Amino acid sequence: MKLLVKTKDKTYPIYFGENNCFKINKILKRNNINPNKLMVIYDKNIPKKIISKFKNRIKKNENIFLGVKFNEKVKNLNTVKKILNILGKNNFSRNDYVISMGGGIAGDICAFAASIYKRGLKFVNIPTTLLSQVDSSIGGKTGVNNFLGKNMIGTFCQPDAVVVDIIFLNSLPKREMICGYAEILKHSLISDKKFFVFLKNNFKSILNLKKKIIKKTIFSSCKIKRTIVEKDERESSLRKTLNYGHTFAHAFESSLGYTNRLNHGEAVLLGILAASKFSNKENLLPKDELRLIENHLGELKYNNLKLFFKKKNIKKILDFMIKDKKNNSKNINLILLKRIAKPVLNNTYSKIKLKKFLSSLIDK
Ligand SMILES: NC(=O)c1ccc[n+]([C@@H]2O[C@H](COP(=O)([O-])OP(=O)(O)OC[C@H]3O[C@@H](n4cnc5c(N)ncnc54)[C@H](O)[C@@H]3O)[C@@H](O)[C@H]2O)c1
Repeated sequence: MKLLVKTKDKTYPIYFGENNCFKINKILKRNNINPNKLMVIYDKNIPKKIISKFKNRIKKNENIFLGVKFNEKVKNLNTVKKILNILGKNNFSRNDYVISMGGGIAGDICAFAASIYKRGLKFVNIPTTLLSQVDSSIGGKTGVNNFLGKNMIGTFCQPDAVVVDIIFLNSLPKREMICGYAEILKHSLISDKKFFVFLKNNFKSILNLKKKIIKKTIFSSCKIKRTIVEKDERESSLRKTLNYGHTFAHAFESSLGYTNRLNHGEAVLLGILAASKFSNKENLLPKDELRLIENHLGELKYNNLKLFFKKKNIKKILDFMIKDKKNNSKNINLILLKRIAKPVLNNTYSKIKLKKFLSSLIDK
């Protein structure tokens, strides 16, 4: 199965399958990718068996393999510099390729390095987490963190090809599956009610990796993101809807200091809960649809903010919401839902209003 992403800069394929990463040579050839040199940067948490099989299958030319223990702490300019130095020392030219094999962190760093080396090297992404397969590998956002915050330095640069292979999910921790599921759920809520109902009926099979269901889910989710990115590559309007629940989510995870108690995907589920409840409070999302969303979040065990936050956290949450890089003013910008699959943009709310709202969820 294949999807094409058509952006102003380029059109590129996303290949879907099982064990298709080992057909990398065929994929490169089919896309007229014929580099002299390849640098494959992989996440060290991927099973060694997969890495060595991949090494054996890839075109025999001047290949460099670099294994990295990717995490948010190494998502910075030092890692980018390391990659650029290796590319430079090995005389990589603009026709050579960087291949990222890893989650969203690996993809964001490698794509950023590829986009700035000699003003742009070719790039293939092999996403290995559910989140990166359904979300971060599509759309061309690249970047790293700095002292000001997450993803503060980056570029828009579309890959040349993406290879989504479900074999990587077998070794993925269950909590990481939830992270990916949160983004899939968000995609359904902002654009496809039928898909939302499918998720509600099949979430257990998805999280347990039932092949037919997980394949369908990944494909449908990518299709949604593809359509949005094609219409608004640079996030001037429609693409902002992908931030549904995320202003709350970023503030939730930041206010707890990014602890293991609440990871990003879990924060997104709570963010979806808060954004949906707030949409209803603002007389947008009807009560029956809010109930559907709340019930599903309950099935996933993320329908109660009180389990994670206390009254004393509210001030910090609000401070982080104000600081969100998507805000231009002192007010807080939120993506809300008028109905499931009908998002509304450009709603700004005062800190006082949101304080009252958060208090009603956390402090009662
Ligand atoms: N560019 C975008 O549009 C975009 C969109 C959403 C998120 N992001 C970024 O993506 C990042 C999060 O991505 P993520 O959730 O994939 O996190 P991640 O890359 O940290 O991966 C999660 C964990 O899974 C491990 N891992 C990766 N593949 C594995 C495998 N096959 N088996 C076992 N373990 C494996 C990693 O080592 C890591 O510990 C964040 O930095 C976020 O900013 C980018």
